[in-house]
This record gives sequence, C-alpha cells and structure tokens, in this order.
Amino acid sequence: MRTLGIGVERNEVKVLILDTAEAAIDRSAGILLDAVRQKPTAVLGLATGATMLPLYDKLIARHLAEGISFAQVTTFNLDEYIGLAPDHVCAYHHYMRKALFDRIDIDMRCTHLPRGDAPDPVAEAEAYEQRIAAAGGIDLQLLGIGRNGHIGFNEPTSSLASRTRIKTLTDDTRRANAPYFDSLDDTPRFAITIGLGTILASKACLMVATGAAKAQAVAMMVEGSISSACPATALQMHPQVTVVLDRAAATDLTLVNYYEHVHPKGAGSEYG
Ligand code: PGA
Repeated sequence: MRTLGIGVERNEVKVLILDTAEAAIDRSAGILLDAVRQKPTAVLGLATGATMLPLYDKLIARHLAEGISFAQVTTFNLDEYIGLAPDHVCAYHHYMRKALFDRIDIDMRCTHLPRGDAPDPVAEAEAYEQRIAAAGGIDLQLLGIGRNGHIGFNEPTSSLASRTRIKTLTDDTRRANAPYFDSLDDTPRFAITIGLGTILASKACLMVATGAAKAQAVAMMVEGSISSACPATALQMHPQVTVVLDRAAATDLTLVNYYEHVHPKGAGSEYG
C-alpha cells in the first residue's frame, strides 16, 4: 500500500471519511508526520482555527512517541490579522507558539507568519509570497475550511489565481471569530492571507474538516462547480489534495458511498 505523503502523484481529490472527529484528527496527524518522515527538511504550510488545536495536540503526542523531529522543518502559516502584534493574545503568531511551536523541537527562525503589525501591510504581503518562493515552495499545505468555503482568509470572490495579499473579512467570518475577541467590534476587519494561487502552487494539500457545521462547505468544495463564490473549490484544480473528514462533516456529500468504497475507514487504496 502506498503512503499518503508528499511526492505521490494522484490527480484526484482524495476523500477519507473517518467515523469520529478523533479518528479524523489522528489520520491527519499521521499524514503530516509521514511527510516529515519522508522529507525531514519539508516546508509545511500551517493553519489555525479550532479544528487545528486537537490536530496539533495529536501531532505533538505522536512526534514525541514516534521520535520524529521537526528540527529541519520550515513552516509558513496561511494568514494573520492586520493590526495585531505577534504577542497579542488573539494573533495567530501567539496561537502557533502556544499550540505547536513552543512544544516541539522546531527552530523558531524557520517558522513564518505574515506580520499583522507591519507598517506597510501591502509590502509585507508581497515579501511573504517571496519568502515562500525562496524556501522552494510549500511541500504540504494544511487547510481548514470556513463555513463560507474560505481557505486561509480567501473569502468568497477571491481570484482563483490570487497571491498573498490583504483581504477584507466577511461578516460571517468575523462573527465566527468574534468569540476569541472581546466583542464583534474588536474583531479585525482585515487580514494578510496567502492566495488561492499560492495554495495551488503547493505540492500537496491536506484539508481537515470536522463537525456538521462544515458539511455544506465540504460538499461544495468536493462536488460543487469551481467558483470563486466558494474559494475552496479551487482545490479541485490541484493534483494532490487529501480531504480528511469525520462522518458529520461528510453528511452532505452525494458520493459518500464511492469514497468509502475507495478508502474504507479512510485507509489508503492500492493506488494511493
Ligand atoms: P475553524 O476555522 O477550524 O475554527 O472552524 C476554519 C477556517 O475558518 O478556516
């Protein structure tokens, strides 16, 4: 059976459905660790959000148990809020340190997020895109999905060819993130996000979605028509995407029987 890591050409969106969120998280952690095992100098694209917290916990536990080192890994996060300094408690810089970086053997100099407090956010976005290119591009891009189909902060109507830039957040996204801030009014209106074109240029993508609130967006992403109205549908044009779901997030998929036939309990198939 072939591995699910980087470097295996597939040309399909692979849908792995696990019975529980815990199993989906464990499967996703395994895919990330396989990528580092195969390429200890891997460039990982990382994500934030509630879905990723148990995933990073699992990654840390398995990194320790399986002795897989992140010492040579480079990371680039998807996005950061404009206006927040790295030590702001709601900044994704802060999130990443607490959730992952301070708890593994990664070299902090090899971790990257856009600076939300950069004096010139436009220049910061362009420089971030160049930093990704200078690192040789992203080997494996981890992604969550917003209820509105965003990936990173590529909100609906993002160009499918977009690169790292400033995006205005939708009200829906601001409401979803407001619980982390003092009030909706305090929730940032702008973010620097890597683009859909940047994500499509990664060598492989791993999307993780759990819970019924994501079912509609997941169905659009996997089975809907490609449209900037649901930015995640851009992934249908990527040659190597793995989507790991729990059963609740898979509820609205039409071809669920097919996915389970090809990948019983989320296993790899003979041909990847
Ligand atoms: P969540 O965010 O994991 O907090 O649901 C995902 C996203 O909006 O990309």
